[in-house]
Amino acid sequence: MSIAEKFAAMEYGPAPEDAKEALTWLDRHSGRFGHFINGTWRQPSAGEYFDTTDPSTGEKLASVAQGSSADIDAAVRAARAAFPKWQSLTPHARARYLYALARQVQKHSRRLAVLETIDNGKPIRESRDIDIPLVARHFYYHAGWAQLLPQEFPDYTACGVVGQIIPWNFPLLMLAWKIAPALATGNTVVLKPAEFTPLTALAFAEICNEIGLPAGVVNIVTGDGSTGEALVKHPDVDKIAFTGSTEVGRAIRTATAQSHKRLSLELGGKSPFIVFEDADLDGAVEGLVDGIWLNQGQVCCAGSRLLMQESIAEPLIAKIRERMITLRVGPPLDKAIDIGAIVAPVQLERIQRLVNQGVAEGATCWQPQTEMPSRGLYFPPTLLSNVHPASMVAQQEIFGPVLAAMTFRTPSEAVELANNTAYGLAACVWSESINVALHVSSQIKAGVVWVNCTNLFDASCGFGGYRESGYGREGGREGLLEYLEPAWFKNAPALPDAKPISEIANSKREAVSPALDPIEIDRTVKLYIGGKQARPDSGYSMEVRDRNGKILGEVPLGNRKDIRNAVEAARKAAGWAKTTAHNRAQILYYMAENLSQRRDEIAHRLSVAVGEAHASAEVNSGIERIFSYAAWADKFDGAVHNPPFRNIAIAMNEPIGAVGVICPQEIPLLGFLSLVLPLVAAGNTVVVVPSETYPLITGDLYQLFDTSDLPGGVVNIVTGYSSQLLKVLAEHDDVDAIWCFTDQASAFAAKSFSTGNLKQVFTNEGRAIDWFDVKQGEGRWFLQHATQVKNIWVPYGE
Ligand code: NAI
Repeated sequence: MSIAEKFAAMEYGPAPEDAKEALTWLDRHSGRFGHFINGTWRQPSAGEYFDTTDPSTGEKLASVAQGSSADIDAAVRAARAAFPKWQSLTPHARARYLYALARQVQKHSRRLAVLETIDNGKPIRESRDIDIPLVARHFYYHAGWAQLLPQEFPDYTACGVVGQIIPWNFPLLMLAWKIAPALATGNTVVLKPAEFTPLTALAFAEICNEIGLPAGVVNIVTGDGSTGEALVKHPDVDKIAFTGSTEVGRAIRTATAQSHKRLSLELGGKSPFIVFEDADLDGAVEGLVDGIWLNQGQVCCAGSRLLMQESIAEPLIAKIRERMITLRVGPPLDKAIDIGAIVAPVQLERIQRLVNQGVAEGATCWQPQTEMPSRGLYFPPTLLSNVHPASMVAQQEIFGPVLAAMTFRTPSEAVELANNTAYGLAACVWSESINVALHVSSQIKAGVVWVNCTNLFDASCGFGGYRESGYGREGGREGLLEYLEPAWFKNAPALPDAKPISEIANSKREAVSPALDPIEIDRTVKLYIGGKQARPDSGYSMEVRDRNGKILGEVPLGNRKDIRNAVEAARKAAGWAKTTAHNRAQILYYMAENLSQRRDEIAHRLSVAVGEAHASAEVNSGIERIFSYAAWADKFDGAVHNPPFRNIAIAMNEPIGAVGVICPQEIPLLGFLSLVLPLVAAGNTVVVVPSETYPLITGDLYQLFDTSDLPGGVVNIVTGYSSQLLKVLAEHDDVDAIWCFTDQASAFAAKSFSTGNLKQVFTNEGRAIDWFDVKQGEGRWFLQHATQVKNIWVPYGE
């Protein structure tokens, strides 16, 4: 080809990255790796290895140890032994280690980038310019938190030994997202990398030794799902942090339910990419290239559902096709490649199967006539149009370079379509109108919304999902909380075993005359649903007795149908989240005023259940607690981050939605208020099962709500046996979270029953809480659980 012809064609020549250093590193290890336990390389106990290969060639890169339960046990022991010393290091000393890790990653960034690319198949441009710089940034950022920890989180302590399981799509970056906050907060770690991409984690293990990280602080055990399962089930692990498929996330929720292990889950997504008619269409198309073709679309937050305003659908599709033609698919080590190799044969088959299924369901498939490499695992960029919003390709995570396109007419229809998924990880909104973009962003149920930009990440901005995309955040201040616990809570004693009130009542039934005081007029307490008193569906009542077994009265025996009605009412009242924080505060203050006026009569009635002094203390503290949350209502606000791009990220504390609450037995009024008020102050609506010991408090409470202008449906109360109602609430798919503060068995049950839609569960773990102590019974700990952080990224500048 002559120079003139080359100028005319403007074709890219090959620009391969040299893999020599990475391959030499593999050779230095003789192409064979054991586990990294207690600072040394150990052969797998069962002597088993598996191969990791380069997906762009199919060639073997190395043999890697298959971890058994015995290997996991050795790693957990090492982490446990290292924990006390690591935790008690000065913040500055821990900060130095994290800083050294950041520096060492930077010093070897090119080798790590190449290693990532050959193991995973992602373009070197991405591993070099996105993955590895973000890894270093994460360690820098958390070196800062290690230093500031005691000042910023004075009453918190580390969870302990943390088990971390990561996927194959961003191997070293996911490692950094997990290890950096864990170490900064004083935890020690056992990490299991994904079986397809273990190499950079092993290179990181070496870096730990190079910087002199104390042995046992970071342990890396390689292997497949069974190794991950052994880690999840190990009894001496205090917390599990997982990123991967929703299916495995659910299995992990089930496996950890009968334990006190903390859990954070970052799962799948089917994120909408919304383009309004006033958007910069060329900008949106470039955004889409990053949104769905980054990392071959194997990205949990990929903008895989394109929602186009109908008026611009045609020109937008034309522009997308034009751009797709220019995307280059090929060897990922080539610096001019846009789309590299798919990680493994099983993933390639899955993508093809799902695309075929989409076409069978009526979608139109378009792929550019791109030149495809003759060997390796590749899939061309793919556009599916005519996609029905309910079809499988619009609902299921494909995890490949496949875009499913749909149209909408109005902003509200866009929001409805965007939220029409079980997931809620991320979203993109493209519009030149900042008002429209922010209005839509605020309504989308997702942990991250990018306005006029795509797939931006920074350590200072929390990342994580709503709904079945999981819970917990990685990055930012909120990410640290996943690895910290209030120090008092960690050491709180177990609640004394309280007999269910029904049993007490039965045992004393014979002994005491079950007569109501004949001179009092019957005071009938009902359920409270949608702002109205309601009779129970069952038509049955439950006796309420005092501590001596004397009958005090009866309350309705709520059942599944009552819970269903209450959840429906709570859903209908979702507008509560949109009322201003000032308005919510005012209503709470008014509630305190009304409780104060009725202080004596309520205390008098309560005293028969808990004793006089206790009752009066409950009412007095209750008034104070209402004041506290009235105060918090307009102060527990978000933050504005300054990530190192021309962007601000607005971190908003959003309510979780409809929350089921099981109240503590031992403290009927203050327990109820301490759980319901933070939720309500933050904009949630609730379905509450009051203390089974004294559910008669319901009558006083709904009078309080009715006289305080609380809109109907914000608080709904269903009396009955809490263990039965807990199950119904936890299994209900329209309930977003469960708060359960009774005994240990109920805490475990709450976690077990809520795996279906992966509800967030907040419990006392069966431990005793001193509800009178403001340090334990109120404040940020509760508010943090009552909210989830949404980060809205907004660019600025020309
Ligand atoms: P996966 O969820 O099975 O694997 C993720 C990690 O979990 C790996 O380290 C794996 O070894 C481990 N694991 C598997 N089973 C486990 C168990 N029972 N207990 C503990 N750990 C376990 O994901 P996989 O099979 O690699 O990919 C399947 C699909 O999952 C993909 O097609 C994609 O749709 C989705 N996925 C989503 C990711 C995300 O970031 N949201 C990441 C990876 C996959």
